[in-house]
Amino acid sequence: MNNTEPRTIKIFDTTLRDGEQSPGASMNIEEKLRLAKQLQKLNVDVIEAGFPIASEGDFEAVKKVAQNIKGPEIAGLCRSGFKDIDRAWEALKYAEEKGRIHTFIATSDIHMKYKLQMTPAQVLESAVKGVKRARSYTANVEFSCEDAVRTDLKFLAEVVGAVIDAGASVVNIPDTVGYTIPFEYFNIIKYLKDNVKNIDDAIISVHCHNDLGLSVANSIAAVQAGAGQVECTINGIGERAGNCSLEEFVMAIRTRGDILPFKTNVVTDQLTPASRLLTQVTGIVVQQNKAIVGANAFAHEAGIHQHGMLMEKSTYEIMTPESVGLKSSALVLGKHSGRHAFKKRLEELGHELDDEALNKAFTRFKALADLKKEVFDEDLDAIVLDEAKNIEEKYKLSHITVTCGSFAVATATVQMEIDGMQVRAAELGDGPVDATMKAIKKLTKRDVKLLQYNVGAITGGTDAIGEVTVRITEEDRTPVVGRGSSTDIIEASAKAYIDALNRLYFATDRDLETL
Ligand code: KIV
Ligand code: ZN
Repeated sequence: MNNTEPRTIKIFDTTLRDGEQSPGASMNIEEKLRLAKQLQKLNVDVIEAGFPIASEGDFEAVKKVAQNIKGPEIAGLCRSGFKDIDRAWEALKYAEEKGRIHTFIATSDIHMKYKLQMTPAQVLESAVKGVKRARSYTANVEFSCEDAVRTDLKFLAEVVGAVIDAGASVVNIPDTVGYTIPFEYFNIIKYLKDNVKNIDDAIISVHCHNDLGLSVANSIAAVQAGAGQVECTINGIGERAGNCSLEEFVMAIRTRGDILPFKTNVVTDQLTPASRLLTQVTGIVVQQNKAIVGANAFAHEAGIHQHGMLMEKSTYEIMTPESVGLKSSALVLGKHSGRHAFKKRLEELGHELDDEALNKAFTRFKALADLKKEVFDEDLDAIVLDEAKNIEEKYKLSHITVTCGSFAVATATVQMEIDGMQVRAAELGDGPVDATMKAIKKLTKRDVKLLQYNVGAITGGTDAIGEVTVRITEEDRTPVVGRGSSTDIIEASAKAYIDALNRLYFATDRDLETL
């Protein structure tokens, strides 16, 4: 048993920035704000909301999060050039003293030589100038040495010392390429603690990628060596194999408090809602056996385990499902429920809709309650997500009729509104979904490629709402994800496809290469 007073580790969530760099995870401004509100409920310490200079959309998202989220600090990423930093502050200034400029430059030989084509002296100068420029706006400045793990240790220590002297209050030591292992990462952090004279004037942050599946273990090792902030994402999404998973890190710290003398401020029963919301927004489904938030994380299959669980839950459960916010579906509303009860329940679930979106959602709810006797919280989440998407719509689904069966060639007749005009087409296909997508493609005259198609039921029962997510691309554009839900999965598929087409049509691809 450890009797040391636990040290609080700050949780810096980068789901909306590094997480968004996952292929297909791009989110629009409303979606980012919705997630930011959930991160606020989770009580993370910092929300990195985007990379303001990367695109107009990123800029607006950071600005909107800075304007609307109270509690956590709001960070925006920028390279160490002045143009990037000035643009980041333009968006972050709305968070006032809670706005954090997060500036970075790569420090490893390989990045300096091939990517930046700069000498170490030039990199050092750029880092220091960047931090000073950021300090001219705010005292809340984080500096990251990109690819720190592959950086010469002496040079790393020199840069860290210099940026702290220049005014950085947080210094991040990222494992950008997911290369390190716990023992090595511990030693890097320890080396900086022992060799940088002003190291105690800043918080050491760590940011681990998961290329070798070690990001959570590495983050824990870093904290043991003295790091005070961990950068992570919901469901571990992020560039390539992703980032350190927020829920795994937080629950490891909480569950093993006996040997890890640390704590976080995270409200852990908001972890499952956060994971689900991210899946709904991005269409990226977590694997069934994913720790903490996977569908099987608290399922016990073997008879011997079930027997143990019935006798005493702690035989096979090291944390309770309730502690991570896993609840069985609660029946909330039925077809006789009125608008007032509907609105109140939505508010309890954290959905604040304007009058127009509320009216649309209520109409959807009534139609659903007619089809389904029982309407669950998850159904309401799906309705709200569908109705409050707030994306521009060039294409709209008007009607769809499908015939199919084991003796029939599947046929779909789709009527759509395109730029205000009603148009209709029928197509044959290899099954009803294929026929539907072909009819939509014909009507929209778009040469898109379907990269991924997923269908899932939101609650149990054959009358459950089906939720479809699709990922599409066109030529070499950044792929987008579309979603649709309905008790009819063919209609849900059509809606998801059309949603993706609208997103592709209005998307502004990032101006910068991905980091
Ligand atoms: O992985 C990385 O190095 C980053 C930095 C920009 C913090 O995402
Ligand atoms: Zn990263």
